[in-house]
Amino acid sequence: MSQLREFESIFSLEGKTAVVTGGSRGLGLHIATAFLLSGCSLVIVTARKLEGAQGIRQAVEKLNALPSIRGKAIGLAANVADSKDIVRLTGEVKKLVGDRGLNILVCNAGAAWGSKFEDAPPSSSIKILDLNVRGIFELTQNFLPLMTQVASRSDPSRLLIISSTAGTNVPHIGEHGTIMYSTSKAAADHLGRNLAVELGTRNITSNIIAPGFFPSKLAQGLISNLGGEESLSRDNPLGRLGEPEDIAGVATFLCSAAGKYV
Ligand SMILES: NC(=O)c1ccc[n+]([C@@H]2O[C@H](COP(=O)([O-])OP(=O)(O)OC[C@H]3O[C@@H](n4cnc5c(N)ncnc54)[C@H](OP(=O)(O)O)[C@@H]3O)[C@@H](O)[C@H]2O)c1
Repeated sequence: MSQLREFESIFSLEGKTAVVTGGSRGLGLHIATAFLLSGCSLVIVTARKLEGAQGIRQAVEKLNALPSIRGKAIGLAANVADSKDIVRLTGEVKKLVGDRGLNILVCNAGAAWGSKFEDAPPSSSIKILDLNVRGIFELTQNFLPLMTQVASRSDPSRLLIISSTAGTNVPHIGEHGTIMYSTSKAAADHLGRNLAVELGTRNITSNIIAPGFFPSKLAQGLISNLGGEESLSRDNPLGRLGEPEDIAGVATFLCSAAGKYV
């Protein structure tokens, strides 16, 4: 027999603080839900819209109504493609977490664009690169002091970047081409590799999650343009698209004690 230290709680996030960008819906909301159910004391979700059916307010209400959670969710509106807003967001988070610092930063907010190559306007590339690449760089820079404050070799702080399988393959060209999206995700992957080395010595692990298709507002248009959920499911070796637990489980693992050496 070997002596496994605290193995009973190896997937727990008890007492941790987290920021999840793009946490008002889709993958970010799945991750925020999992973090609270796994014991986080505070999960701060951000997105641009505060109000409405897709806004942060309704998401936070649902998160705080989760059964048997001891922590809480707080929503902050911010555009994480905008440098000034990232600085403002960091200041607001600092006030909320205080001495607890920030254990987990999930850079999940992302934008996509699908069109013929010739039809993609400069604004689509600017939007995608600002949010999917530069925004992650600046979020990490700005949150670094709060993350190092609580990071240790035995319990590192965690950076998760939500990239895409589109970062390693050429997923869609032609009528519904996603060339700049795919390129931005390849850049996000390499940013993650650089940050893993840069921040590793400061007791922060950096990991990239590269999801395939999950039904969401962002993916909806592309899924239907490419023949719908059933047809895309057939392209997947497991015969289905991603489900909330699939992303929630991976994110929780990487932020728990089980993932501290990944
Ligand atoms: N769904 C998939 O199949 C799939 C596959 C691979 C990778 N991904 C990646 O997963 C991540 C989440 O995608 P999703 O499918 O969950 O998309 P989604 O349902 O459309 O959610 C996107 C989230 O990001 C927020 N957001 C968008 N632009 C923002 C900005 N400038 N500043 C702050 N927040 C912003 C949105 O809220 P507001 O609009 O209110 O700002 C929303 O909360 C993205 O990085 C995406 O590339 C998704």
